[in-house]
Amino acid sequence: MDQIAKLIAAMTLEEKIGQLTMASGGYAVTGPEVSADISADVRAGRVGALLNLWGAEAVRAIQRTAVADSRLGIPLLIGLDVLHGHRTIFPIPLGEACAFDPELWTATAGAAAAEAARDGVSMVFAPMLDVARDPRWGRISEGAGEDPYVAGEFAKAKVRGFQGEDLALPDAVAATAKHFCAYGAALAGRDYASADVSERTLREVYLPPFAAALGAGCAAVMPAFMDLSGVPMTAHHALLRGWLRGEQRFEGVIVSDYNAIAELLRHGVAANLCEAAALALAAGVDIDMMSDGFRKGLPQALAEGRVSVEDINASVRRVLTLKQRLGLFDDAFRRKGGDDREPAEAARESVRELALTAAQRSIVVLTNDGVLPLPAGLGKIAVIGPLADARREMDGPWAMAADRDDCVTILEGLKGALPGTEIVFAEGVAIDGEEESRIAAALEICRGADIVLLCLGEAAAMSGEAASRACLGLPGRQEALARAAFSLGKPVVALLSSGRPLTLPWLFERASAAVATWFLGTEVGNAIADVLTGRFNPVGRLPVTWPRAVGQIPIFYAARPSGRPFDPIDPYTSKYLDCSVEPQFYFGHGLSYSRFALSNFAALQQRVGIGDVIRLSVDVVNEGSIEGEATVFLFARDIVASVARPVLELKRFAKIALGAGERDVLDFDFPAAELSFPGLDLQPCFEPGAFEFSVGFSANPKALMTLRLEVVAGI
Ligand code: NOJ
Repeated sequence: MDQIAKLIAAMTLEEKIGQLTMASGGYAVTGPEVSADISADVRAGRVGALLNLWGAEAVRAIQRTAVADSRLGIPLLIGLDVLHGHRTIFPIPLGEACAFDPELWTATAGAAAAEAARDGVSMVFAPMLDVARDPRWGRISEGAGEDPYVAGEFAKAKVRGFQGEDLALPDAVAATAKHFCAYGAALAGRDYASADVSERTLREVYLPPFAAALGAGCAAVMPAFMDLSGVPMTAHHALLRGWLRGEQRFEGVIVSDYNAIAELLRHGVAANLCEAAALALAAGVDIDMMSDGFRKGLPQALAEGRVSVEDINASVRRVLTLKQRLGLFDDAFRRKGGDDREPAEAARESVRELALTAAQRSIVVLTNDGVLPLPAGLGKIAVIGPLADARREMDGPWAMAADRDDCVTILEGLKGALPGTEIVFAEGVAIDGEEESRIAAALEICRGADIVLLCLGEAAAMSGEAASRACLGLPGRQEALARAAFSLGKPVVALLSSGRPLTLPWLFERASAAVATWFLGTEVGNAIADVLTGRFNPVGRLPVTWPRAVGQIPIFYAARPSGRPFDPIDPYTSKYLDCSVEPQFYFGHGLSYSRFALSNFAALQQRVGIGDVIRLSVDVVNEGSIEGEATVFLFARDIVASVARPVLELKRFAKIALGAGERDVLDFDFPAAELSFPGLDLQPCFEPGAFEFSVGFSANPKALMTLRLEVVAGI
């Protein structure tokens, strides 16, 4: 018998259910502190996992209780939401996605894992892989945007980064792919609301990022809170047992979301905790996070024959296997961190450098009339707005363990970067609230300034969980401040800190430049200063379509063509009477201080077989006067198929660095098999025929270079 089988054989039912129970470590305001109740539960084997606890000492203490004082000595899993850094905070995932840089995505996850592991964490509730096409939904900030291919690349990169080469290494943590699935489709962008998406959209859009994470060996999956067409994901047998465990052969751990098993009662699919626990376990959930549903409901469910002891044992085995893979049985304290493993100054420095790189690469210059980069020798810059010196806000949502004092604000970054320039600051208005009385003073400091930097946007708590917004303008009286600044007739650069695209057409029209800076984390101020001064040539590109108006939502580039696509001269085509059909900014949009152009888009073959690799190439030239980095997107379109295919589907993206005047060839190798799609019967199918391939710097159809290629069943 292996070690796990022996343990299971020795366990009481209570101990088994304990391994399936995750309780709160209870991080107290004054420091980490595990309550006496939880310690007693750990000692009695009634709890096998904790969340919201970090810190070497606290984790070591409770781990010692589990290992030394409980009957079977099984170590605890320690889970935490490490979405974009742990102590050192990297940009929010939506921001980091703008870098279109899988190596960077892996590096930041690796650094976050190492910091979290040093704090005793062995499991992170990340990455978040929900494709999000509705910026009203606050959780759009936690993922990689609207595109399933990008989310899939993000998934692989993040899982690699968190889990490393081997989960047992002291710097590795188990990743959790969440929230499974279609949570991003929550009705009207309202968090926790139902989603109702077709089986086709599930297969085309929402499942692929999870398949990518599983392919990369992701250790755990978390079902989403919401119901999908009436079936809460926590009890979704068809998707958890059917797709995840069946089709995808996932053998890892399924951990419920917070209290989600008990919420099956509120969903109205279970009358009591016994039914709820039975539904969740039967669907495939292994760990109950915080609902006590398994502890209170499973014994009765077992007695009534609603679940079998084999099902319970199978879940326990999966949990213990994860603990074993994490090396916890060999050394429960391997992630202990603390004094002996305190990172050297040099290691801390390198994480900060990575945070700076990530922040620089996440910034998207949306508009620029030439005011950026700022010319050298500016005499005076007026910085106004509530986000300019807002240290507390800069980390964005999910940054529980952040070393906040380390964060460099925008104002501090600018002052550091421009020592010879007079920089004056006034907040003008708060982020939210009706108070306008300080606007006049803010305008006053703009007198004599060469340029005004407007630092606007959202508070950190306005995105993330439970942070949906129905209006996507600037909160509070920030618009009044901005309009007042514009009325001065000076060049105004708007810096937007937010967890989502904001609908501000009036601002984009008036500002000399507008820059999306999301929530960039610890190095925000330095990164923004580097971009504004031109020390760093911006590379960020939008992983989401940026709407002009809330009424355009949901909005995404990969729409189907419609029988009546928009035609400005035909009123009976797909459009709005009161708003353009075009977004404010296309997916992929983002300006550089270099000027790039594409030419000679060509395919090596004219006809290819389904088993072939399609070879495409395009010349990229930097027509600008400084070195820069271009991002090129490759899209495909199946022109005629049994199912209407999207007008564009992203198949690859690539970055290329070019010196001033330099030209190079970018090659895309693309297996034709990736042109298959769920057919009429929803099974993967490939239909031979003509395909269009396009390359461009964004999904703007007017700026794409396109060619046609014949793909046949076999050559
Ligand atoms: C609820 C959130 O939906 C989930 O993303 C998170 O991991 C858990 N709470 C734990 O904090």
